[in-house]
Amino acid sequence: MSSKVLETIGLTKYFYEPTKFKVLDNITMSVDHGEFVSIVGKSGCGKSTLLYLLSTMDTDYEGQVLIHEELVTGQSDIDLARIRNEKIGFVFQFHYLLSEYTVLKNVMLPGLKLQQYSEAEIEHRAMDHLKTLGMQDQALKMPNQLSGGQKQRVAIARALINDPLIIMGDEPTGNLDKKNSDLVFDIFKELTQEHNQTLLVVTHDADFAGRTNRIITMEDGKIIS
Ligand SMILES: Nc1ncnc2c1ncn2[C@@H]1O[C@H](COP(=O)(O)OP(=O)(O)OP(=O)(O)O)[C@@H](O)[C@H]1O
Ligand SMILES: [Mg+2]
Repeated sequence: MSSKVLETIGLTKYFYEPTKFKVLDNITMSVDHGEFVSIVGKSGCGKSTLLYLLSTMDTDYEGQVLIHEELVTGQSDIDLARIRNEKIGFVFQFHYLLSEYTVLKNVMLPGLKLQQYSEAEIEHRAMDHLKTLGMQDQALKMPNQLSGGQKQRVAIARALINDPLIIMGDEPTGNLDKKNSDLVFDIFKELTQEHNQTLLVVTHDADFAGRTNRIITMEDGKIIS
């Protein structure tokens, strides 16, 4: 595997409502395989906008995004959906688990969508991830029967189900107390150290950022360090 997992060249983005406003200004950055990188910066500086763009969900920008040295800028919506599903796992501040499905089924869903493995295999893999995260006993519960920290661990298991090239997180600990934030951090750390998992995480938590391999600091749509 090549070492560069994610790369951006001169990303610039505007919002036009209510007035024209440059939200991202010439962002050039890259993330190497196995790195645990955090993005920090004041509220409104463009972190979530950047992550949304890196995740291929927003295609309205200038510049280029490469994932695994493949240019994703300009690809069709169908191809982008495939790239997203195959290569990127997401963990957000709010877990977005589907309330009508069990924990196990929630973890399985992106795998069922990708159809790379049989359903039985996906279930087996989902249980393995839940086990790694200490959640195997909760597999048949519904999401509303879990604590906040447990929901976030399910969201991590779900993000892992397709062996993503990179996991992206937007404030994955933003809604958690100190104890659960530490737990999520430790899980991420273990994923990078023991499984060479690449992680890119937006966070407000200076302590969390300080313990990652590298901090990208943004200000007014620019990277300042
Ligand atoms: N759809 C939109 N239309 C217009 N402006 C937007 C839109 N979404 C975000 N913005 C503006 O773009 C800027 C960057 O927003 P963004 O959500 O990326 O910030 P952020 O760094 O993630 O902030 P926070 O730390 O509060 O989550 C903000 O000034 C915001 O008000
Ligand atoms: Mg944000």
